[in-house]
Amino acid sequence: MDEEFISLIDKALEGVSLKKLEEAFQKLRARYRNHALSKYITENEMRLAYLLYRVPATSGVIARVLKELPEKAYDSLLDLGSGSGSSLWALKNTLLDLNKISLMDQDLDLINLGKTYSPEQFKSKSEWILADLLTSQPYPIHSLVLLSYVLTEVEDKEELLEKVSSSFEEFLIIIEPGTPVGYQNILKARNFLLKKGFYIVAPCPHANACPLTKGDWCHFSQRISRTSMHRHIKQGKLGYEDEKYSYLIVSKKPYQTHGERILRHLDKHKGHVQIKLCTSDGVKEKIVSKKDKEHYKKTKKLSWGDLYFML
Ligand SMILES: C[S@@+](CC[C@H](N)C(=O)[O-])C[C@H]1O[C@@H](n2cnc3c(N)ncnc32)[C@H](O)[C@@H]1O
Repeated sequence: MDEEFISLIDKALEGVSLKKLEEAFQKLRARYRNHALSKYITENEMRLAYLLYRVPATSGVIARVLKELPEKAYDSLLDLGSGSGSSLWALKNTLLDLNKISLMDQDLDLINLGKTYSPEQFKSKSEWILADLLTSQPYPIHSLVLLSYVLTEVEDKEELLEKVSSSFEEFLIIIEPGTPVGYQNILKARNFLLKKGFYIVAPCPHANACPLTKGDWCHFSQRISRTSMHRHIKQGKLGYEDEKYSYLIVSKKPYQTHGERILRHLDKHKGHVQIKLCTSDGVKEKIVSKKDKEHYKKTKKLSWGDLYFML
């Protein structure tokens, strides 16, 4: 985990009761599991709990999703429903030189937390905006717009997407929890944005109807390291957790994807690897034999969520 993040968290937690934090985390987790609230993060301990336990995961996912975009494809970012600025932690280890970062949220206390506990390198470039996403004026235009773990919280999703549609110059990223509900939100957003004439960048390698069958949902997994405090609060023994997420990136301009999306962990056998792929001809299982040496070697280095393009 990022050293700067850990030392800032230590400061944020000075004088805070761990028991209260733990309770706040459990309450927040239950709220997210039960859905259907107009506001989820409502108490200060919950805000701290989010910063401590969720920001490492959501920023890890944002960082992974950003890798789907071409290098230097955008020079400004509008993070809608930014919370305390998970996107800033995601951007920290990229070499991008963004000239403008705007972060918008409805919760002043989360914004204040973000202003204090975010990476030093972005402090002078970030503008924090207190606003409700649905009732605010049209958003300021940026080349990249991000909606990370937000759509699920907003009641009128189409209205939000309508507003978002006219606020990005290049790309829009939507990230949701990797659950059936999160996937349904992504699927609806995908249909809406395709109808608007945008182009899919990822994860789908086509603009056809999603080929997944009933009961399945498109999601991916990002490994996040845990501190000892994480392990304690989440009552887990492992030094990591796997954060599941669903996502969509669309482009305003025509965009050519190359490859097929790997939909599951590689199924490794003695003499071959089996891969489940999303292709423009539907979902396909592909077997790469050990005898096909070069191909096999390259395939084994790939992971769930990567593009497969060695035809
Ligand atoms: C689950 S948090 C996600 C925070 C951050 N984007 C991340 O990925 O970690 C959802 C955020 O969306 C904000 N939010 C939800 N509905 C909103 C609305 N109508 N207007 C502004 N912000 C909203 C909440 O205040 C909260 O900070």
